[in-house]
Amino acid sequence: PSLSEILNLHDFEAIAQKVMPEKAWAYYSSAADDEITTRENHAAYHRIWFRPRILRDMTHVDFSTRILGNHSSMPIYITATALGKLGHPDGELNLTRAAAKHGIIQMIPTLASCSFDEIVNEAAPHQTQLLQLYVNKDRELTRRIVQHAEKRGIKGLFITVDAPQLGRREKDMRMKFEAEDPDEVAKSGDNVDRSQGAAKAITGFIDPGLKWTDIPWFKSVTNMPIILKGVQCWEDALEAYDQGLAGVVLSNHGGRQLDFARSGIEVLVEVVDKFKEKRGITFPIERFQLFVDGGVRRATDVMKAVALGATAGALPFTYSTRTFVYQPMHQSELAGHSCMRSLRMVLTAFDHALQILHDEFEMNMRLLGANTINDVVRDMVDASNIHSH
Ligand code: FNR
Repeated sequence: PSLSEILNLHDFEAIAQKVMPEKAWAYYSSAADDEITTRENHAAYHRIWFRPRILRDMTHVDFSTRILGNHSSMPIYITATALGKLGHPDGELNLTRAAAKHGIIQMIPTLASCSFDEIVNEAAPHQTQLLQLYVNKDRELTRRIVQHAEKRGIKGLFITVDAPQLGRREKDMRMKFEAEDPDEVAKSGDNVDRSQGAAKAITGFIDPGLKWTDIPWFKSVTNMPIILKGVQCWEDALEAYDQGLAGVVLSNHGGRQLDFARSGIEVLVEVVDKFKEKRGITFPIERFQLFVDGGVRRATDVMKAVALGATAGALPFTYSTRTFVYQPMHQSELAGHSCMRSLRMVLTAFDHALQILHDEFEMNMRLLGANTINDVVRDMVDASNIHSH
């Protein structure tokens, strides 16, 4: 397919499923158990409706914003997804380049296929990057990772808190994972079990003992803002606020962990209401930012989240890498010239994905009657039917 035939982010996904190897598709697309939460992540957005305003001079719109104090051209960032090289030999570097081009922020996963330093070295001067942390049982190692990240200029530490054990992703488990990259295996320690899919094979090091009383330790080893990724109710969001953290990502890990967890956007409504009730806070505020991921594929999804009080929404962008990579690779065209061609295609694919989102924001801000992100306010959405029960 040519890029001009790809009109939205769902198109990328449909093509990826057709062209990529079964094993990679299984890892990237699988979710927990019956995948009900994954479906709900999309469905929840369908229960929120807009209340647009008219006659406000929509000649100019500006949807840039600040994420943890850093400029972003759109209220989105690239969330962490492990194993980028399953999609392309350049792995996460493709995202780094596209993020630089479009002025958006990239979150680097602990389980990136490229090394942390490779990814940071690829960044343009002043490009903002964040670190997603799976906390290792070896806290000394964790401390070194965190402090190294801070030294390299990472602007926020996102600790994933929804994965004390990995969810059962059965599609992935059916593929007997064989790690192709020895680095991947090395990161996970000695006891790599390859019999149950890619995800299981690489996550054995994650500490299931992580607890609230560990948070002061994290604050003592870094000055980076700390954000908990994977908060799913107001009680935990409030605890994070009270412990002086910088924010939370309301997320169920793309439905890859606990099936029947609620969508991030539904939890957002609850969190915003309860913060108002318990602390008199009206979002957005600088000191504690709310982020949402899960099912975000359109600018309108993010605009709904922003109207409800979120600072930004996150997208995985795994699909756009995958889409354009596999055809040339399959034909064993990886050597020399053809490889270069395929690299360019991937970058163009990301570029195209981000351009689609940019154009969607521009049009939908106009149609909503919002000149800037600050104009996207609570009254612009009707979320009265957000609750699924
Ligand atoms: C993820 N996600 C994830 N999260 C995390 O904290 N560490 C990780 O290593 C990964 N890896 C990962 C791999 C793949 C293939 C996917 C699809 C997701 C979760 C991710 O950051 C985010 O929460 C979800 O992707 C959001 O849901 P949607 O947008 O995929 O529906």
